[in-house]
Amino acid sequence: MRVLLLGSGGREHALAVALAADPAVTGLVAAPGNPGIGELATLWTDVTITDPGAVAALAVELAADLVVVGPEAPLVAGVADAVRAKGIACFGPGAAAARLEGSKAFAKEVMAAAGVPTARSRTCTDRAGVVAALAKFGAPYVVKDDGLAAGKGVVVTPDRAAALAHAARCRTVVVEEFLAGPEVSLFAMCDGHTAVPLLPAQDFKRVGDGDTGPNTGGMGAYAPLPWAPPELVDRVMAGVVRPTLDELARRGTPYAGVLYVGLALTADGPKVVEFNCRFGDPEAQVELALLATPLAGLLYAAATGDLAGQPPLTWRDGAAVTVVLAAAGYPGAPRSGDVITGADRPGMLHAGTARRSDGALVSAGGRVLSCTATGADLAGARQAAYGLVGQVGLAGSQHRTDIAAAAVRGEVRVPVRR
Ligand code: AMP
Ligand code: GLY
Repeated sequence: MRVLLLGSGGREHALAVALAADPAVTGLVAAPGNPGIGELATLWTDVTITDPGAVAALAVELAADLVVVGPEAPLVAGVADAVRAKGIACFGPGAAAARLEGSKAFAKEVMAAAGVPTARSRTCTDRAGVVAALAKFGAPYVVKDDGLAAGKGVVVTPDRAAALAHAARCRTVVVEEFLAGPEVSLFAMCDGHTAVPLLPAQDFKRVGDGDTGPNTGGMGAYAPLPWAPPELVDRVMAGVVRPTLDELARRGTPYAGVLYVGLALTADGPKVVEFNCRFGDPEAQVELALLATPLAGLLYAAATGDLAGQPPLTWRDGAAVTVVLAAAGYPGAPRSGDVITGADRPGMLHAGTARRSDGALVSAGGRVLSCTATGADLAGARQAAYGLVGQVGLAGSQHRTDIAAAAVRGEVRVPVRR
């Protein structure tokens, strides 16, 4: 199978590792990729991956059997539709279904139609609407930019002035009730009608230890979740994933790809915080480190409506942890061009890296590396991941020191109503 992989982050490096390890893969091209991915795939840098026509033409030129779309922007732009129109299988939803991530207002509308539990919300287009919605739901205030914002469009704050200021910077916003409880990311492989869950994972969105500072794309992750209620996956598949797939199929826009369900486990049960139309980054890094099922065949089955014909997924024993090493300044304007040393060991997944003309590896983005390791248990995986972090040299770099720490200590609790 010849595979074209789109994207350039740590998630795509993890996908490239798993695809390259699948004996069914006879050719792997990544566009645009990064230096880490370049160790595993041929890099194709002169295509704009959000240009549907250009990607479809490249897939034809490469005689690709499967296109795997890593990030959301190409999906929202309609790349999967254009590839499928050429008769080539594509892992990722078409533009109409990718609106689940592309528009938070659309996601809320689908959830309401499908009866999916989520935070109560109002979609607002003017200040008066925002003022009324903030008053209705109260503090802490949750204000979300309607459109794509690379994980940075959401402000959760006790400060009403800050909530209003964020809303003023956006055109359409969704204001919603605050959901209290630990967050879980659950990914479901979908082929339009059938859905298969991966392992629940947890992501760390805030930049600082103890969940302080601004939201980021994600600073680390681990899986599985030793504290998760045993019925969680079945409950989310039955109450969230299946009704959402059915609703999209009913609308004539079936969802094929991975559905990312971001949940808060509240005292009233799991509620959806967000949908994304692709794998989480950095959650994909830990999921793929544990997945034993060959990846290319699984993605191809999802892309071609054949998940029901696949054997059950198999997983390695133990746990996986990833810790993101970010550049100075992230999530604001990250500093780039700093030399990176020690980043060539297995599990050091590249994101914002580049090769300088003299061959040196330098930083070239906010999240630079995801240091990913497995272990016999969560404590072992955590120790191994931080061991990798300690081997990297990058001036001014930042990382959280508490990824998976509360879970290792047995301190994560799902609230109960009393
Ligand atoms: P989103 O992009 O919608 O996932 O939001 C980013 C982050 O903001 C989430 O991962 C949560 O940590 C937080 N968040 C979003 N919506 C809510 C909510 N209704 N209640 C509490 N926290 C939220
Ligand atoms: N880690 C969160 C995301 O990928 O959206």
